[in-house]
Amino acid sequence: MNVASQIERYLPQQMLELVEDISRKANQMGHKAYLVGGVVRDLFLGYSNLDLDMVIEGDAVKLAQQIAKTRQLRLVTHPRFGTAKLGYSNFTLDIATARCETYSKPGALPTVVYGTIRDDLFRRDFSINAMAISLVPSNHGELIDPFQGSDDIERRYIRILHSGSFRDDATRIFRAIRYEQRLGFELELQTLQMLQQSIPMLDTISGDRIRHELELILKEKHPESALGRLGELGVLQRVNSALRGNGWIAEKFSKARLLSKSGQLPTLYLCLFIYSLSQEESERLIHRLNVPAKLARALRDTLQLKSRLHLLCKTSVKHSEIYYLLREYDPLAVQANAIASESSSTRSNLELFIARLRHVKTLLNGDSLKKLGFSAGLELGEILQVLHKAKLDGEVKTAEGEKKLALSMKPQYKGKRLKTPKVN
Ligand code: CTP
Repeated sequence: MNVASQIERYLPQQMLELVEDISRKANQMGHKAYLVGGVVRDLFLGYSNLDLDMVIEGDAVKLAQQIAKTRQLRLVTHPRFGTAKLGYSNFTLDIATARCETYSKPGALPTVVYGTIRDDLFRRDFSINAMAISLVPSNHGELIDPFQGSDDIERRYIRILHSGSFRDDATRIFRAIRYEQRLGFELELQTLQMLQQSIPMLDTISGDRIRHELELILKEKHPESALGRLGELGVLQRVNSALRGNGWIAEKFSKARLLSKSGQLPTLYLCLFIYSLSQEESERLIHRLNVPAKLARALRDTLQLKSRLHLLCKTSVKHSEIYYLLREYDPLAVQANAIASESSSTRSNLELFIARLRHVKTLLNGDSLKKLGFSAGLELGEILQVLHKAKLDGEVKTAEGEKKLALSMKPQYKGKRLKTPKVN
């Protein structure tokens, strides 16, 4: 099958020019260039894909360096692996030297040896990802499909290339489900059986690699469907026995999408995903996934705040009390609790903090207080806090009001500490 005209229609003009440039240059260098993987799959499915992958029978790094130089593109190279990444406005292009891979033991990163395009396709995960399009002048546009990936696209199947695939690399368990749910495909019967048998192999995968797979799932449009399926198959439980991907998550994830910016969604999803775990179970998960400090803080804050939510369940809680309780926590942990809490008054207090209270600032600042005769240091900080609290609680509204309140404290303030608002 020749798909040259489909590629021309499918790729945005800028990308097409770059791809053509690369294949021309490859030809001059005596190399062969191919489009591979996700872009070929998505071309058949009619989905857009701005992350192109190319495989070169030849020196991909040298080729990428020359292209980056003539077209002034961003370039990152990994000469040890024979790979390079070119960056161009809003898309990226990965170029790799064709290789074969062997796995020294299950779960280990593969040993890489250079090979042909067919070797390179054979090392891949699923038939729908193991297709290439030739950019070699003699057969430009020809589909190379040794595992009948295009048939599987038609039949809507996710199918591994050989029975040892999940054993070699158990992260493919997550990948299979991610594609199954994203594309609305089915796992072919033997693939499903091999997947189920290989679940214990997840124990051989490092925390970083499992976390990376979960993060990819959380970047999907509807991650709850893949999490639900992973829960159903017992995959999540193999990572942490307390994890579930149930209907509660589906409901909360769709609420999260309505409320949160897309860049923050993966972290917010993760906070909701661990919401039903105890602090102990969550610590085990943080350890298993080797979660980096910033993300671990958001997860810990989520559960710590959950354990204190009873302090916010009355509508009569003062705004300053809400503020001084919540300001300690990661904003996404507060947001996760606002989505997850079953009490409407708690929810509205949390939402009030997110929408308004956390942005409240006094109109007077340190300098204006100094002009009123307050001395720098502790005294000033404490007065500002009293003003802030009064502003939060609506007791003062204007700069004049703040000034009056500050001056009213002056005679009483004789170096003794003022009480700061606190919620226990
Ligand atoms: N791949 C693989 N096994 C893995 C990871 C990746 O075989 N564990 C191969 C697949 O052929 C895949 C290609 O490497 O198509 C590129 O990987 P990736 O960028 O993760 O996937 P895409 O196919 O680009 O798909 P998407 O980003 O849409 O998920």
